[in-house]
Amino acid sequence: MNTERTRPRVIRDPGALHREVAELRRGGKKVGLVPTMGALHQGHLSLARTALEECDVCVTTIFVNPAQFGPSEDLAKYPRTLDADLDALATVGSQIAFVPETDAVYGPGHATWIEVGAVAEPLEGQCRPGHFRGVATIVLKLFNMAGTDVAYFGQKDYQQVQVIRRMVEDLNVPIQLRVCPIVREPDGLALSSRNVYLSPDQRQRAVSLYASLCHAEKMVASGETRADRILAAVEEILLEQGKGRIDYVAVADPETLEPVEQITGETLIALAVRIGETRLIDNCLIQPPAG
Ligand code: PAJ
Repeated sequence: MNTERTRPRVIRDPGALHREVAELRRGGKKVGLVPTMGALHQGHLSLARTALEECDVCVTTIFVNPAQFGPSEDLAKYPRTLDADLDALATVGSQIAFVPETDAVYGPGHATWIEVGAVAEPLEGQCRPGHFRGVATIVLKLFNMAGTDVAYFGQKDYQQVQVIRRMVEDLNVPIQLRVCPIVREPDGLALSSRNVYLSPDQRQRAVSLYASLCHAEKMVASGETRADRILAAVEEILLEQGKGRIDYVAVADPETLEPVEQITGETLIALAVRIGETRLIDNCLIQPPAG
């Protein structure tokens, strides 16, 4: 990897970003947006890489959005590593980093919120009340502030993508959405900014998330169609191997996120587990065998 490349230019002012992107687009450039909360890892960088394959310019946003954290969540201790993030972005060639101050995003008197309906309600929505209201609001604000052609999101946060899709469709937001696959450690653990919280023992136990998804995939590949059996097997792995506390395991319709009882077509398996104090999520899409 070329680490000699220049760091992205940091823009802090939303107005300056908007003018810059508008100018680029007037000049015929295609511009992609990669929204992040920083503490960048290869998962984030894969989004920026894809953006640069498909667009001329990649704007990566780094903003720890207070509105999507609950009162008992990790906002204060969320890792903030701007210097290392800019170095990481240099390795992929993202040209612009948008790093606004909180006051520039949520000005005094800010009182408008985006509430997405049904698809935001189960799973993460149940466990983290208000989370998707905070996500949808910041994502729409970032779309408006940046005004790019395309935005890139990871399948890692599957429900987040569905919530943003719904919002974009319902509010006629003029942006194209692209979803990129989950980047994993060699042992299967999905990369996450929160993995740094794990002790060595917890880090080992965290592999159980991926192991349980692989097991579910194998069950389905060998003909299992009953969601309750898959749920039971997944939960057993999470509890025994991971010694985790399960927030949810869902076998669900990939569009509506409603639970399914019988697997007849493409199905989402999504889970959230606490390993120690760290809350981890993962998911996969599975396909029953043909015929
Ligand atoms: P954050 O958790 O920083 O993630 C930023 C983007 O990186 C999201 O689209 C997420 O799905 C993607 N991502 C994270 N880990 C990944 C992995 N292992 N493989 C592939 N993609 C991965 O998601 C958020 O921030 C925020 O909610 C945000 C959308 C920025 C709004 O504040």
